[in-house]
Amino acid sequence: MSLVVVSNRVARGKPNEPMTGGLAAALLPVVEYSGAIWVGSSGRVRDGHQKEPFAEVEALGTGALATLDLPAAHYGGYYEGFANSALWPALHSRSDLIRVSQGDYRSYREVNAFMARALLRFRKNKTAFWVQDYHFLALGAELRELSVDDPVGFFLHTPWPVPAVMQGVPNHRELIEAMLAYDLIGFQTEEDRQNFLGYISQDLGLTAEDGIVVSRHGRTQCQVFPIGIDAEKFAQYAAKSISHPDVSRLRKSLNGEKLAIGVDRLDYSKGLVNRVSAFDRLWTEQPNLARSISLLQIANPSRGGIEAYGNLQNEVARLVTDVNGRHGEVDWTPIRYLNKGFSQAVLAGLYRTAQVGVVTPLHDGMNLVAKEYVAAQNPADPGVLVLSKFAGAANELDTALLVNPHDIDGMARAISIAVSMPLTERRMRWEAMMKKLRGHTIQQWSADFVATLEACRGERAAVAPL
Ligand code: F6P
Repeated sequence: MSLVVVSNRVARGKPNEPMTGGLAAALLPVVEYSGAIWVGSSGRVRDGHQKEPFAEVEALGTGALATLDLPAAHYGGYYEGFANSALWPALHSRSDLIRVSQGDYRSYREVNAFMARALLRFRKNKTAFWVQDYHFLALGAELRELSVDDPVGFFLHTPWPVPAVMQGVPNHRELIEAMLAYDLIGFQTEEDRQNFLGYISQDLGLTAEDGIVVSRHGRTQCQVFPIGIDAEKFAQYAAKSISHPDVSRLRKSLNGEKLAIGVDRLDYSKGLVNRVSAFDRLWTEQPNLARSISLLQIANPSRGGIEAYGNLQNEVARLVTDVNGRHGEVDWTPIRYLNKGFSQAVLAGLYRTAQVGVVTPLHDGMNLVAKEYVAAQNPADPGVLVLSKFAGAANELDTALLVNPHDIDGMARAISIAVSMPLTERRMRWEAMMKKLRGHTIQQWSADFVATLEACRGERAAVAPL
């Protein structure tokens, strides 16, 4: 069976180019080695009505990458509008940031329908479709409208909130009902799956037994598939990239001082303000730690056209300036703050240079930075991961120092413990995490999802729709 993977953003196979987001980086090896076709947005838009969506196709490992120009009239309403100003805040339990119009919802549905039409071109005799993330909640239903009877699965990379939060999204009922056209819906954690099933029962009045929902569309299986990484590849990148100019310059500049690293998209879900405040608290309460630990915070700007993101960018920049102004010295900068992206190969070397990895989102589906930080460590002298308990990764990486990102004092304490943790404890914690990463790779994640999708399409045929 051939596989078509769909996501809004795609990545090209160059380890030396900056990566834009965890999903694209994660899917790259899946497509490279599985022979799948990966379809997504080209990042460009096109005017006018397109009967035949324009797609550029290029080889990607054993697979291919097809990028589409999305319709200009609907792109803004779809991407900055409904996807990122209604769904994203709701999925991260920030209903207060929902700003959306009916026009945005219509554009979102138009782009989902457009993508469904485009996918027909990649359909072969036996094809399974695997749709990624919140940009395409209704794509399965649009494919069914076009009489596609193949297996169609969906994986959500973000959290799914409690029903009351989802109810704050305009048109939520119509949209979530449409999701039941998928044969399989995958979640990062059991909590997300339970929240989704809670909504299905409270708002749609449907019952689920063992995660199986029967609706007018037929049978939908809801299951947890925590996403993994290619830990070995990351470890190899890390070992090699020590000689990369960015990495060696960073090392030289440290003069024996310890380093903590944070790598995030500049997004309100990532807890950047609280993280910087925790370092502020640490240097205020323990001035002896000034000069002995600094923070390298990489915060790649994202979704800049949305007000909440512009506000956050200003807020974090102000706070970093303030903290550096108060704690800095003529020859010491407490926080090195960079608003740009790095390639995975360089990031791996930066992670390995840092004795502490700080991954403290307020809410996150999985957070692959946490996993990458662990994979990049030197086994003989590994660093310590300080991890938010509200990141999906905390379920697996439970020997990290788990913190509540709302508790500034608690985070400051955890950073201070991380800085002085003895080697034996660091190794014990790291080995336990690394074992989990090796035991559950991105390749296994994808093979697992696709095998389950194919199996559950078969079972769907046996169930009469409601
Ligand atoms: O799951 C969320 C996600 O798709 C991530 O994989 C990725 O980091 C981000 O959102 C992409 O954001 P954008 O494409 O809007 O920059």
